[in-house]
Amino acid sequence: MEREYGISGAIKMASNENPLGPSSKAIIAIKKCLNHIYRYPDANAQLLKFHLAQKLGISEDSILIANGSNEVIELTLKLFLRCKQEVIIPEPTFSLYAKFTQALDGIPVRVPLKSDFCINLEAIRDNITSQTRIIFINNPNNPTGTIIKKRELEKFLKLLPENIIVVLDEAYGEFVEDPEFPQGKDYLLNPPPWVITLRTFSKVYGLAGLRIGYGLASPEIISYLNRVRQPFNVNILAQAAAVAALADQEHFEKTLQVVSEGRRYLSEQFNQLGIKYIPSHSNFIMFYLGKNCLQIYEGLLERGVIVRPLTSFGFPEYLRVSIGTFDENKRFIQSLKEALFSLK
Ligand SMILES: Cc1ncc(COP(=O)(O)O)c(C=O)c1O
Repeated sequence: MEREYGISGAIKMASNENPLGPSSKAIIAIKKCLNHIYRYPDANAQLLKFHLAQKLGISEDSILIANGSNEVIELTLKLFLRCKQEVIIPEPTFSLYAKFTQALDGIPVRVPLKSDFCINLEAIRDNITSQTRIIFINNPNNPTGTIIKKRELEKFLKLLPENIIVVLDEAYGEFVEDPEFPQGKDYLLNPPPWVITLRTFSKVYGLAGLRIGYGLASPEIISYLNRVRQPFNVNILAQAAAVAALADQEHFEKTLQVVSEGRRYLSEQFNQLGIKYIPSHSNFIMFYLGKNCLQIYEGLLERGVIVRPLTSFGFPEYLRVSIGTFDENKRFIQSLKEALFSLK
């Protein structure tokens, strides 16, 4: 990108990563582990499962460690979806749910969000048929940053038919400050419905490049998922880094603080610029630019700021910006002002 636009020092605010990078303790753990890479990794990621179970207050056999939470999405579909069965997917949301569904000859049933950009649980219920197998709910939702609250979710789960699996993707769950945000880990037992909750080390823990995430579900579901995954699905460096990152509470809290302050700053700046945006509970914000959207996107690129166009999500008049460091956020706003000004 830098070569194409003749720039250097570009900042990437497009993939919702941790702007602070990983914990320094994770880096140390990786370095210590380097001499061991001739060995296969622990096939069951026992140490990480032990620490996660302690932290989350759940049993180790309710945890599946995976090659990114993407792998849990894929395994869930491979395991439970049969040809021509339906998967309900809010729209817009994370694109991989539909891609994997189609790759497995399932039928994605897309349910538009409400006018406030929140996931429409009532409409999802109305779209359930005898062929529905899985429902994906991304909470908070990517790219809107909106959430479903505890009361709504519980009411929804109570009314679902027994044979349905709900995947609650909480890739961005750590960033939510609303006390009414439900924690998927609280719905794993006493099925039906069967709930599989996804979390990842790619976002708040800053380990996206290592590919490590996890699924939480009843021990029965986890045992099925374990049967279809590859034995050494998570590499040795990722496991060591995740254990260290989990223990680094200081870096975790610093990340939440930077995201919280950045979210407030960017929201205020959008207000001042008269730019419509969707109030976000996550580490990104979707904002509206209308018909000039792609031109402004290009203008930002020329100034070395990479954000995410939402054309592929069906929203060509919106962009999504990941919350960066204080300096990155300022540079983004300055570049946005310049790009808007150059239109006039
Ligand atoms: C909603 C959502 N789920 C899952 C993922 C993938 O996470 P991972 O890196 O753990 O595979 C992403 C990545 O952007 C995401 O936005």
